[in-house]
Amino acid sequence: TDQPLVLGIETSCDETGIGLVRGHTLLADTVASSVEEHARFGGVVPEVASRAHLEAMAPTVERALEKAGVRFSDIDAVAVTAGPGLAGALLVGVAAAKAYALGLGVPLYGVNHLAAHVAVDQLEHGPLPKPCIAMLVSGGHSSLLLVPDVAGDLTSLGSTVDDAAGEAFDKVARVLGLPFPGGPHIDRAARSGSGTAIAFPRGKYDDGTLDFSFSGLKTAVARWVEAREREGHTVSVPDVAASFQEAVVDVLTRKALQACRHHGVKDLLIGGGVAANSRLRALAQERCDTAGVRLRVPRPGLCTDNGAMVAALGSELVTTGAPPSSLTIPADSSLP
Ligand code: KG4
Ligand code: ZN
Repeated sequence: TDQPLVLGIETSCDETGIGLVRGHTLLADTVASSVEEHARFGGVVPEVASRAHLEAMAPTVERALEKAGVRFSDIDAVAVTAGPGLAGALLVGVAAAKAYALGLGVPLYGVNHLAAHVAVDQLEHGPLPKPCIAMLVSGGHSSLLLVPDVAGDLTSLGSTVDDAAGEAFDKVARVLGLPFPGGPHIDRAARSGSGTAIAFPRGKYDDGTLDFSFSGLKTAVARWVEAREREGHTVSVPDVAASFQEAVVDVLTRKALQACRHHGVKDLLIGGGVAANSRLRALAQERCDTAGVRLRVPRPGLCTDNGAMVAALGSELVTTGAPPSSLTIPADSSLP
């Protein structure tokens, strides 16, 4: 209990995530999601997300305190996602964090959402090896990062030139008539299909960069389904799902291991919502074993957006003596 208690607030998309962390110990991780309000639109509606954050903020913080068995006055620091994300959604979290920090008289830490996706792994697997390679794959980003130190600056080694991996899952799910967000539904459907049934294209597979491209794949799947239906054939949803998923995870794991090799790094971390994918986890493990690379993937609940990840990074910043943010920090939707 002599380590500082950090409150983490995450509102970059449609999840109001509140986390309470002491050192590397997770005390509470409470998430209120507005995903059902967005489902009928087939994507997140920013205005709806902002309003939902505003309504969920105070009750979700109180639920987290109750769960952790602590009081407001026990909080030693407040961390919040300052960006990147939806501007209006971020603003709600940043404003709330400033109010809590000011009211409690504790320091405020504005953090980068991607760095928080990396830091969360420490809650489950202990201190991250330095350096490590992190692959972040979610609905908003697909990036390979060199992580010299969780509390330090991350270097981008490559990222998607068009759609994010999760975005491709969501769009292909829509083509297959599966609900939003589509990733978990494709994952489930793929279990009864064959990943080699259809040879879908693997964008940028051999281009020598650490960048990704998923929009050609998404279009290829849509064209394939349309053509089959036009010819009067039935489409096997499990086979299309499995073959599409195989194309995505083949490229992701190939490039992640290339990054490890190029930089002589033996530790790979995978995070973000798509890291919950069962086939990605299995293939990454297989290829890491072959390459002699140690793999770390947080449990699925810590891969998707949550407040624990923000509290985890905040805790790291407090412990390493990083300077707090000013109470005037902006929400920065395009933070690199
Ligand atoms: O990290 P996250 O919760 O939010 C963003 O920052 O975007 O990621 C959400 C994304 C969605 O595109 C969702 O379809 C995808 O992660 N996702 C999955 C799985 N679970 C969530 N994609 C593939 N397989 C899954 N099991
Ligand atoms: Zn995220």
